[in-house]
Amino acid sequence: MKFTFPKWYDLHAHFRQGDNLPYYIQSHMNMACAGILAMPNTKPPITRVMGSNTDQYWTIESYLNDLKAAGADAFDQIIVPLYLTKETTPEMIIEGTQSGLLKSCKYYPPHGTTNSEFGAPIQTYMDNGVFAAMSDTGVILNIHGEEHGLSGEAYFGKNGNAEDLFYKERVPKIHEMFPNLKIACEHITTKTAADFVTQANNNVAATITPQHLLYTVADLLQGLKYHLYCLPLVKFDEDRQALLKAAVSGNKKFFAGTDSAPHTHKQTPCGCAAGCFTGDIAPQLYAEAFDLNEMNKDVFEKFLCLNGPEFYGFEKSNQSFSLEKMPSQTSPLKTKTDTIIPLTVGMERPTLQWTLNQND
Ligand code: DOR
Ligand code: ZN
Repeated sequence: MKFTFPKWYDLHAHFRQGDNLPYYIQSHMNMACAGILAMPNTKPPITRVMGSNTDQYWTIESYLNDLKAAGADAFDQIIVPLYLTKETTPEMIIEGTQSGLLKSCKYYPPHGTTNSEFGAPIQTYMDNGVFAAMSDTGVILNIHGEEHGLSGEAYFGKNGNAEDLFYKERVPKIHEMFPNLKIACEHITTKTAADFVTQANNNVAATITPQHLLYTVADLLQGLKYHLYCLPLVKFDEDRQALLKAAVSGNKKFFAGTDSAPHTHKQTPCGCAAGCFTGDIAPQLYAEAFDLNEMNKDVFEKFLCLNGPEFYGFEKSNQSFSLEKMPSQTSPLKTKTDTIIPLTVGMERPTLQWTLNQND
């Protein structure tokens, strides 16, 4: 069984800065990616649009140049969102749009995930004109949808979690206040979020990662498979099933965004860095999650290759790749100085069911 698709878009991935950049970009090339949305939670973060970098912040302009110099110029499209902070102003949004460099902004819940300490509570941008300016100028809002500052049962409990609360309380209010604001709900993990996106207007869409389609919290806990530790956490099977239903529905609001995040050190002194690395292997994992076959290949193509670029206003790729139902192996990514372990290497079933071939 073999299927050919247009090259796909990863509309949520992390590439970091520095010497490893070319390796991470190459991993995305290896998996037939036509375009990327490169997240701004770098160190320092990307909190300005134009000009040179400082010790406190980098700019979209300079990060784009670095990505391109490291090989990303081969992609058809690259978006670097602006990291929203309390210093972001409506004027920055308007000028950024005029420069042609600003296409989207990323909301990070303060202290909610890797390098998110520069984020301000979401109400800030509802009140200070930033979301209004984004809505007026057509700048897309990428949301990390978790309520910040929660702990214990409220963070992850039997009757709800930080994402549930955020999609029940926060995002509906933003959508109601700014119905024309385009919102990409990033890496959704719950039935609550999938239901919200389904019933919202067509300005609202969502990315779904391979790990949230394939695994649940039980897979993380049994054997403490820390390579599956990412944020938002993998949830319960009811949630996973709801995500899968949304992904296979053919609804154009749902598309691929891997949240692939290379961590050179997953283990921290007393915990674990959040992020799964799925460079090289994401389409194979999505194919496994979909149980790709003759009957669903069209909806798979929409999810992986068409819906995302359509939401961002890109053409579909005119190059192609194929996926063949044949086992393949994943191996650690070695850079000059580091080894990055891809998600499946640490899991019970490391062998991939699918093999990817570039067609050019
Ligand atoms: O698991 C995650 N890793 N979630 C995020 O939101 C950030 C990402 C990272 O940058 O490592
Ligand atoms: Zn991310």
